[in-house]
Amino acid sequence: MATGKPEKTSDKSYRVTTSGDIEVSTYLEIAREIAGEQPVAATEAISGAEREAIIVIDFGSQYSLLIARRIRELQVYCELVTHETPWEKIGHLNPKGFILSGGPASVYQANAPLAPSYVYESNLPVLGICYGMQVITKQLGGLVESVINREYGHAILQTSDSDSPLFDELPSPSPVWMSHGDRIEEMPPGFKILAYTENSPIAVMGNDKHIFGLQFHPEVVHTPYGKTILKNFAYKICGCQGNWTMGNFISDSLEQIKVQVGNGRVINALSGGVDSSVVASLIHRAISDQLTCIFVNNGLLRRQEAERTLNIFQKNLGMNIVYIDASERFLKRLKGITDPETKRKVIGNEFIHLFEEEAGKLGKVDFLAQGTLYPDVIESTSSVSTASAKIKTHHNVGGLPSEMTLKLLEPLRYLFKDEVRQVGLELGLSDEMVWRQPFPGPGLAIRTIGEVTKEKLDILRSADWIVMDEIKKAKMYRQLWQSFAILTDVKSVGVMGDFRTYGYLIALRAVTSYDAMTADWARLPYDLLARISNRIVNEVPNVNRVVYDITSKPPSTIEWE
Ligand code: XMP
Repeated sequence: MATGKPEKTSDKSYRVTTSGDIEVSTYLEIAREIAGEQPVAATEAISGAEREAIIVIDFGSQYSLLIARRIRELQVYCELVTHETPWEKIGHLNPKGFILSGGPASVYQANAPLAPSYVYESNLPVLGICYGMQVITKQLGGLVESVINREYGHAILQTSDSDSPLFDELPSPSPVWMSHGDRIEEMPPGFKILAYTENSPIAVMGNDKHIFGLQFHPEVVHTPYGKTILKNFAYKICGCQGNWTMGNFISDSLEQIKVQVGNGRVINALSGGVDSSVVASLIHRAISDQLTCIFVNNGLLRRQEAERTLNIFQKNLGMNIVYIDASERFLKRLKGITDPETKRKVIGNEFIHLFEEEAGKLGKVDFLAQGTLYPDVIESTSSVSTASAKIKTHHNVGGLPSEMTLKLLEPLRYLFKDEVRQVGLELGLSDEMVWRQPFPGPGLAIRTIGEVTKEKLDILRSADWIVMDEIKKAKMYRQLWQSFAILTDVKSVGVMGDFRTYGYLIALRAVTSYDAMTADWARLPYDLLARISNRIVNEVPNVNRVVYDITSKPPSTIEWE
């Protein structure tokens, strides 16, 4: 049972799957399943005496991940676990408090998920949010009831106990954001009302054991002082110190990578994307020449991409890089293929064959480094199924042969994307590299509609270069999730000078997104669109028309294939 004492556990039972992330190295994800390996964690958060964490028990709210991000932004390490996670899996993190998330269930449903007993028996502070508050109420002897009018949206919070440390620096009244069906009718014994809204007489409750419930969501931006409440909980109530900084993360990771790898050898598929670049830099800093990166130029990269990546990692950082120019080989394999799924499979399989061939030439290798991030880890541990229909084959494009039994080294598996970027910057990677927009593994092949040929790729590369150049000049690159050109398979009639032309149609795609699961087309200024269009038809041979894609995802996807 919970003692609050750190306990070491070597059992990392996460089964990691890939998300819609962007690294070529994720093609190799399947290796884990074949090898039956559990991933090797390169860091177990902050080490030794400094270690502290807040644990979020995830009841499946769409905001659970956001809670963890908010706590991390406060420089307190935070992990999300399911309500079935035993203490042994989290004790070593030295929890200082628990947050019970919201969720879609009702506590009176059969099999409604509840908090594990250690949450209450540990005597650590607890903050229940929405469904989490109802869980506390049910488990500690209060009463939850459905309300006739479900409450969504803004409400005004009035504190009735302004002395509570939870409310330090919180103005009263202050706006909060509600989203709930059930509400508390009777608080558990020992609790008192700390704040109320017009429709929720018990909007915040608490007892003298530092167990609190909030009927609203402090983690969303619509609760402007939500972060103040979370900060008060973490620092004033749980007593956290705030030692989760990327500087600490780096120094800890370096130590742990050294210990784990020992004298072994590590390979990494370098793609030039953010995650694989940061992984490579971090591991290289820890074990220098014991790391070999394999960089495959599949001929489907953007203009100057291969040179740029080689320059940074080989020339500037002095890494061991095996560079393979396989452009011809990929083009040959893609000849005559027009079906998008077949393209993806062919490219994925070819990549794996090549990687395997090159890795085989290196002699004995012990570890495969991967840029798995925390959202990938959580997806597979969440109590709520995230299963969805297959829209496109992303990474599950083949497998590594069973002889390739490598241990996985995943030093970023506890980080969110924004934290990875910070690590990259602290490791000295350039802004340009760290803020690079995602680029898909199959590259320009899935932006060349129909058969992929060298001629078409060259046209697309020229148009893509102009898009990037203009977007950067307009200082919009970072605001956009992605911005790129697509070479359609359509030709249309135009006129240039006194001559009729019959040329390709280029489509522009620029989207804003938070995680690529949904996306909105970017409202680019007309002037910017005009400049891009003008330059493309003037500077790129065989193109005489440019259109802008104004569909969001769903119903479209970001890439065209
Ligand atoms: P879609 O087109 O499905 O893309 O809306 C979502 C995000 O994923 C990227 N993407 C890929 N990344 N391998 C990758 O590494 C792939 O096969 C792949 N397909 C799409 C896409 O660029 C967008 O960011």
